[in-house]
This record gives sequence, structure tokens and C-alpha cells, in this order.
Amino acid sequence: AYTAEPFVPDRGGLPALRKAAADCRGCPLHRDATQTVFGAGKAGARVMLVGEQPGDQEDRQGTPFVGPAGKLLDRALAEAGIDPGDAYVTNAVKHFKFIRAEPRKRRIHKAPTLREMTACGPWLAAELAVVDPELIVLLGASAGKALLGSSFRVGEARGAVLEREIHGRTEKLVATVHPSSVLRARDDADRRAAYDGLVADLKVAARALT
Ligand code: URA
Ligand code: SF4
Repeated sequence: AYTAEPFVPDRGGLPALRKAAADCRGCPLHRDATQTVFGAGKAGARVMLVGEQPGDQEDRQGTPFVGPAGKLLDRALAEAGIDPGDAYVTNAVKHFKFIRAEPRKRRIHKAPTLREMTACGPWLAAELAVVDPELIVLLGASAGKALLGSSFRVGEARGAVLEREIHGRTEKLVATVHPSSVLRARDDADRRAAYDGLVADLKVAARALT
């Protein structure tokens, strides 16, 4: 089975993890991507935000949530009163997965499979152990499935503080939609409603921190 396990160092904290992840060959996704996009933030951050996988901009820049979805997330976090300095931001999968409709055309994000999320899971587990956040925010279904299993549904879980056992420890979590889903809304009214829903869920997270 594909797994990052043999690449994950068991000491050295975030710097060692980030350095080792740059050379991960735990699944085939490293082949077409530009680079590993490891989490950003400091150990001991109060909240850990988990997305799905890097997008086009993240793949080029090597940092999570710097593209359009990240800009929207930053705005929503500010509105919810979550200080970016308190946040560690990462993804369930560390390499960009994409398809090209035509050669040399725009790269289109493709959702990772459960196999790929499972392969990459040891990195997320290691980040969780080192960062040791008070609260995890799950951004969308992939993050939820990666940490809570394939039966996870955003619609059922969102907007409430959950307590779940993850890797042998009880973690507090709040689930919400992925910021990309707000950008994909059909029209302005839908987009507004989706954004307000995201902010409302993040306010639940903000309250759980204080
Ligand atoms: N979407 C994600 O899930 N993660 C990123 O880093 C960017 C977009
Ligand atoms: Fe390793 Fe994850 Fe990249 Fe696969 S997606 S190569 S497991 S870092």
C-alpha cells in the first residue's frame, strides 16, 4: 500500500518534518506536482485548520492556502475573530493533484482518493502530535474523512464542537465547508449564503477557543 510512513522522522519537530516531507515518495502524487506543500504555522498554535490538498498557487509557492480559497479563508477567519497567528494551516494531502484538459492548459484540481489520503495520513498525524492544538477545524469533506473516517459528512457534522478520538487522543473539532465550495457557488446569493455559513461555523470554533 502507498504510505508516507517510512519518510516521517520521529524527532526534530516541525523543521525536521517539513524537511523530510520535501522528499516524500509515499504515493505517486509527488511525480506531477512541483513540490510538497507542508503545513504553515508554529508548534503550539491554538487551532489547526485542515484543508484537502494544495491548489495550483500553493503548488507553485510551496505554502498552503495562498491562492483564491486561502484569501477567502483569511477573510472569514478575520470576521470570525480567529487570529492567523494562532493558526496552523495544513492539508490532508501534501501534493497537488490535477488534470490538464489540454496540454499546456490550466491545471484543474482533482480530489484525492481515500488511498492517497491514507498514504499521506502519517504527515498529518505527525503535525497533530507536534502542534498539539486545542482545536481542529476541518475544512470540507476530505479533511473530515482523513481524520474521522470515510463515513464523515460535512452537512451532518458542521457548526458544532465535536469530541473524537484520533490516534489515541481525544481531540476537539469543528467541521465546516471548504472555502473553495464558496467560490464555486452558482450565483452571488448562493455565494453570500455559503460564505455566511463558513463564518458562522468559524465563530463556533472561535468560541470553543476562549
Ligand atoms: N485548498 C486546500 O484545501 N488547501 C490549500 O492549501 C488550498 C486550497
Ligand atoms: Fe508523500 Fe503525501 Fe506527497 Fe503522497 S501526497 S508523495 S504521501 S507527501
